[in-house]
Amino acid sequence: MPDKPVVVVGRKLPAAVEARLKRDYRPKFNPEDRVYGTDKLLALCEGADALMPCHTEHLPAGVIARLPDSVKIIANYSVGVDHVDLAAAKGRGIAVTNTPDVLSDATAEIAMLCMLGAARRAGEGERLVRAGEWKSWSPAFMVGTQITGKRFGVIGMGRVGQVTARRARGFDMEIHYTKRNRLDPAQEAGAIYHETVEDLLPHCDILSLHCPATPQTVNLLNAERLALLPPGAILVNTARGAIVDEAALMAALRSGQLAAAGLDVYKGEPHIDPAFFEIENVFLLPHIGSATAQTRDAMGYRALDNLDAFFAGRAPRDRVA
Ligand code: DGY
Repeated sequence: MPDKPVVVVGRKLPAAVEARLKRDYRPKFNPEDRVYGTDKLLALCEGADALMPCHTEHLPAGVIARLPDSVKIIANYSVGVDHVDLAAAKGRGIAVTNTPDVLSDATAEIAMLCMLGAARRAGEGERLVRAGEWKSWSPAFMVGTQITGKRFGVIGMGRVGQVTARRARGFDMEIHYTKRNRLDPAQEAGAIYHETVEDLLPHCDILSLHCPATPQTVNLLNAERLALLPPGAILVNTARGAIVDEAALMAALRSGQLAAAGLDVYKGEPHIDPAFFEIENVFLLPHIGSATAQTRDAMGYRALDNLDAFFAGRAPRDRVA
């Protein structure tokens, strides 16, 4: 019987996922949960058959080129694959998989939290209470934006976008969206389709981003497009920081053109532009869209299912390259 494949595991994973890895593979775990530098990661990959990274392990073309020939698959523990140069992997014949579907509910929950946190000034309120600076109640105190019945716009109506839209319907919101290919009427469930981002934006009291970060979507939401939103709109980003021009976003928040923003993702995270900390009307979370025990287990099982299929000679369900 051949030796079990060696899998380099990028970060510390949930106990149940690590147990399955240990049962079926020869894993190289990261018990201290360090973010490996490129040289360390490449050294660990010597003689390995597979790599299971998170989005915190960056695999641009230059790193893919240096992976040992033994590595045949990159089974991501993430749905987003913007940290991997897919063309470079394909060029070297390395399979790449991701973990779609299993984190849609958890991420949609965080999108709702970002929407409500921004609209109802939750960050400001929490800071005030914790600092012991809450002095009184008055009709003018902490007045925010009511979201019930407002228009909820989605850029990228894929799996997470559709679940988020469903949750927004619970607030009687009218759903607007844009997507490369229009959904069929059953999936649309009454949502109003706009052919372009520019067509969509004037219809969004709340705009929620759910498209992947690709060369085409980097800085998609720039100053010109932000200006197309109705005055006092709210931005929610649980997708990727790269999609938003952060300087333009900060300018729109400072001028009041945007009432608020709720962000779970940032350019260069976890090293957030400190200018955000000076802006009161932005609600900030630390990339926790998929952070529930249930979802983190499910992501691991999905990544393992992909590895199992690959090493059994079958097509992995979630192959993206
Ligand atoms: C994902 O899976 O892409 C989440 O952002 C966490 O990495």
